[in-house]
Amino acid sequence: MPENGHQNVTMVTCTAPVNIAVIKYWGKRDEGLILPVNSSLSVTLHQEQLKTTTTVACSSSFQEDRMWLNGKEEDMKHPRLQLCLREIRRLVRKRRNTGDPASDVISVSHKLHICSMNNFPTAAGLASSAAGYACLVYTLSKLFGVDGNLSVVARQGSGSACRSLYGGFVQWKMGERSDGEDSVAEQVESESHWPQLRVLILVVSAEQKSVGSTSGMHTSVETSPLLKYRADAVVPCRMEEMIMAVRQRDFAAFAELTMKDSNQFHATCLDTYPPIFYLNDISHSIINLVHCYNQHYRETRVAYTFDAGPNAVIYTLQEHLPEFVELLHHFFPPQTNRGEFVKGLPVCSASLSEDLKRDIKMEPKPNGIRYIISTKAGPGPCVLEDPNLHLLAADGMPKNTA
Ligand code: DP6
Repeated sequence: MPENGHQNVTMVTCTAPVNIAVIKYWGKRDEGLILPVNSSLSVTLHQEQLKTTTTVACSSSFQEDRMWLNGKEEDMKHPRLQLCLREIRRLVRKRRNTGDPASDVISVSHKLHICSMNNFPTAAGLASSAAGYACLVYTLSKLFGVDGNLSVVARQGSGSACRSLYGGFVQWKMGERSDGEDSVAEQVESESHWPQLRVLILVVSAEQKSVGSTSGMHTSVETSPLLKYRADAVVPCRMEEMIMAVRQRDFAAFAELTMKDSNQFHATCLDTYPPIFYLNDISHSIINLVHCYNQHYRETRVAYTFDAGPNAVIYTLQEHLPEFVELLHHFFPPQTNRGEFVKGLPVCSASLSEDLKRDIKMEPKPNGIRYIISTKAGPGPCVLEDPNLHLLAADGMPKNTA
């Protein structure tokens, strides 16, 4: 554990990924412990394109717990944040009582300075809370020297955060126990399992989402009969089918389940009273374009999924990527040049046949998609060993403030 001279400040820096669910988590059976009404499954995205970096520093000289998020100091009183801190301290005390020597390094009563940055816009609706809480919990676990499954802690920051604790393909098993000890995330397959699988994030709007997931799913649980049907009768089989599709790298099965589950999640939102609308006209055009494209080839080559906002996430295979990106460029012509339109992993250009363009039954929508982030499945959280990468200086204050 690096110590910084006379200040006696100990700090650790880690990074954690974003994840995108293909079987959606929507609804809690226990809002306090964040226990879901159904299991879910996600793909962890590569941290080269999307990640949170968090430094946590600890010192007997700190007067109070403090936190900076993307350069701005935040209130530590946030209840979810307090829950995570309380849970990790509880875990540390539990380990110490069982005599685990690794956790004896740092006093659990010392105050903390936390500094966190995203390499993508927080308000773009890109599941920043999942990466954020996973990163915080993982970094705290390294600082205090506790290991084991951290799902129970991360879950209490944000449900979907427990899935960001692992790379590749991850399921969050809903569990049965009322104390939530069996409601945990587990890796289904690692990030190297399906190298041909590629991911595109179509950023439609960077505006703040209208109804947050926490309050949205609360209203859905209270009012939507479809949510109950989905949790009881649909998701259990779908989880099994999805795990099978992932294990067998069966793209058509994976893609169809992904689209159906996204559609059912948004149908549940419509079934909520008053209804919740996350998709907009551009989202609907993307759905239409994907179905026309698959129909043209009489094969499921591309899938979409949408979370609590209008941005689409596309799953496809490497071999179809250039043509599909070209199609997006054609039907959503951007003001910017191609380099600014497609960020992240490079995508070759391709030509489009007149037949294909004709089969996509829509008028071009200029600037409908602001930009695309091209990425793939990636690893789980990791520790940054280089002290130059700490976000806090040796005195425990942020190196960069906005
Ligand atoms: C639509 O994990 O953000 O992205 O547990 O209340 O923090 P809280 O909700 P959150 O919900 C994510 C909902 C979703 C689907 C998913 O990621 O599974």
